Amino acid sequence: MSFKQELRRYKRVFVVCDRNVEGFAGQLAGGETPMFAITADETHKSMDTVLDICRWLLEQGADRDALLLAVGGGVTTDLAGFAACIYKRGIRYANIPTTLLSQVDAGIGGKTGANLDGYKNILGVIRQPEFTAIFPEVLQTLPEKEFRSGLAEMLKTFIISNLSHAYERTVKLVSSAGWPEVAKDANLQELSELVQLAAGIKQGIVEKDEFEKGPRRKLNLGHTWAHAIEWWQSVQKKPCSAPFSHGEAVAIGIVQAAKLSESLGIAEKGLADRLKSDIEACGLPTDLPCPVKDLLPAIQKDKKAEGGLVRFVLPVKVGRVVVRPIGPQLLLQP
Ligand SMILES: NC(=O)c1ccc[n+]([C@@H]2O[C@H](COP(=O)([O-])OP(=O)(O)OC[C@H]3O[C@@H](n4cnc5c(N)ncnc54)[C@H](O)[C@@H]3O)[C@@H](O)[C@H]2O)c1
Repeated sequence: MSFKQELRRYKRVFVVCDRNVEGFAGQLAGGETPMFAITADETHKSMDTVLDICRWLLEQGADRDALLLAVGGGVTTDLAGFAACIYKRGIRYANIPTTLLSQVDAGIGGKTGANLDGYKNILGVIRQPEFTAIFPEVLQTLPEKEFRSGLAEMLKTFIISNLSHAYERTVKLVSSAGWPEVAKDANLQELSELVQLAAGIKQGIVEKDEFEKGPRRKLNLGHTWAHAIEWWQSVQKKPCSAPFSHGEAVAIGIVQAAKLSESLGIAEKGLADRLKSDIEACGLPTDLPCPVKDLLPAIQKDKKAEGGLVRFVLPVKVGRVVVRPIGPQLLLQP
C-alpha cells in the first residue's frame, strides 16, 4: 500500500512537524491537512510542548478517530507520540522520521516521551505507532553531525544482529562516499536499503520484547558509556567547545564495550581494533574524552544497574552480542 493510500484509511489526519522539515511535511500530507510546527531541540522536549500539541488538537476539534502524524527526528516523534497517547485518553499516531537516527531507531519501537527539569525522557509511555514510513531522500538536508549521530546507531544495530554483511556494506559506503555524497542520488538506493534493513532489525527486536525484558536490551550496546559521557559533558565547569552528540558518544561506547569484552575473553581477538578502525573510517570518534574514573559515578547510576552490577552489552563479534552484569570497578583495571 502506498503512503497516500495508507493515509486515506484515517478519517482525519493532523500533522505535528519539526519546523526544519515543514516544507517536506506539507508536501507529504497535502495542503489541506492541519499542521503544527515545533522547535525540535532538547529544551523544547518538554511537557509544555506536549500540552501545546494537545491544546492545538482540541482547537482543531480532533476526535478519538483522528491520526496524529509526526514528521521529524526523535524529538518530534517522541513528543507527538506522547501527546497522542494522552490526548482524549489516547488517539492513534504514526511516524515519518526525518533524521537517520529516527529512521533506524527513535521512530520505531513505540517509546514516546518528554524531558523533565533537565532529565532526559523521564516522562513517557510505550505504545506502538500505527506505522512508520521512511523517506530516505529527506536525509539530503540533514546536517552532517546529525547524519553521523544516526550512523553510529545504525552500525550498532548491525553489530547486534546477525547481518554482518550489512555492517560491512555500511562501512564501505560511508567511508568511500563521505558526507554529503552518501545521501546524494547516486548512493541513495544503497543507503535506503541499509536504512530499511536496520529499521527492520529494530522492529523485529521490539516485536519480541516490547518492554525491554530480554532481547531489546541488546539495543543498549555502547549506551552505558554514551550516557556517562553525556553526563560528564553536562557537569563540566568549562563546557566542552564541541560536545559529542548522542550518536558520537555511542560510537565511543561501542569501542569501549569491545575492549572490555576482549579483556574478559568474551570477544574474539582483535575485535576492538577492527571496530575502532571501521568507526573512525566513518568519521566517528572512538576515544574517551576523559579518564574512565571520571565516568564511573554515571556508570554506577546507569538505569540498567542492579545490585551494584551494571548490565553491559558486550560484542562477541560483528553479528553477536551478550548481556552480562559486571561490577563497574572492573573498568578501572588496566
Ligand atoms: N523513542 C526512542 O526509542 C528513541 C530512541 C533514540 C533516541 N530518541 C530521542 O530522539 C532524540 C534525538 O532525535 P534525532 O537525533 O532523531 O534528532 P532531533 O529530533 O533531535 O533533530 C536533530 C536536528 O535535526 C533537525 N532535522 C531533523 N530532520 C531534518 C532534516 N531532514 N533536514 C534538516 N534538519 C533536520 C532538527 O530540526 C534538529 O535541529 C532525543 O531526544 C532522544 O531522546 C528516542
